[in-house]
Amino acid sequence: MTTNQGSLPGDPTPRQVLERMIRVDHAGEYGAQRIYQGQIDVLGRGPRGDVLRHMQAQEQHHLDTFAGLIAERRVRPTALLPLWHLAGYALGAVTAAMGERAAMACTVAVEEAIDEHYQAQAASLGDDEAPLRDTIEKFRGEELEHRAIGIEHEAERAVGYSVMRAAIKAGCRVAIAVSERI
Ligand SMILES: [Fe+2]
Ligand SMILES: [Fe+2]
Repeated sequence: MTTNQGSLPGDPTPRQVLERMIRVDHAGEYGAQRIYQGQIDVLGRGPRGDVLRHMQAQEQHHLDTFAGLIAERRVRPTALLPLWHLAGYALGAVTAAMGERAAMACTVAVEEAIDEHYQAQAASLGDDEAPLRDTIEKFRGEELEHRAIGIEHEAERAVGYSVMRAAIKAGCRVAIAVSERI
């Protein structure tokens, strides 16, 4: 670590804010890529295979972009990547095993949480970080497309949709909070 992390009891420094942002976005995109991998391994040969692969390819691009920023900005990645590796995959595989609609409900929930997260981040960035803000806004648009794909493929008709959506969104918010710092 080359920062003064931990030296202030109160507000994080601008550098810490930026580090947390890149760290959590990298973690989130990593998790998203793994969710779709879990879903593809279960449903990839079925009628939803192509749409899942399309979304995963976009997540891979998001992940590659934030991996680049991690290196370029010298940000420590989250120590929880091994956890997101497993948890993301498990979430994808389990929802996919519940059915195509449940898999799409998972997408709706995750993408809604990420949309809120990216919206807040983009709003907090000034013109000095315009390229990062543009990247986040672009990715946010693609996350919203994923959400729309989920709705289009009957996510809302999944058994237990409301409960599942709320639980997965809550889980995402916890994952976001811890991945900013740990
Ligand atoms: Fe993404
Ligand atoms: Fe996404």
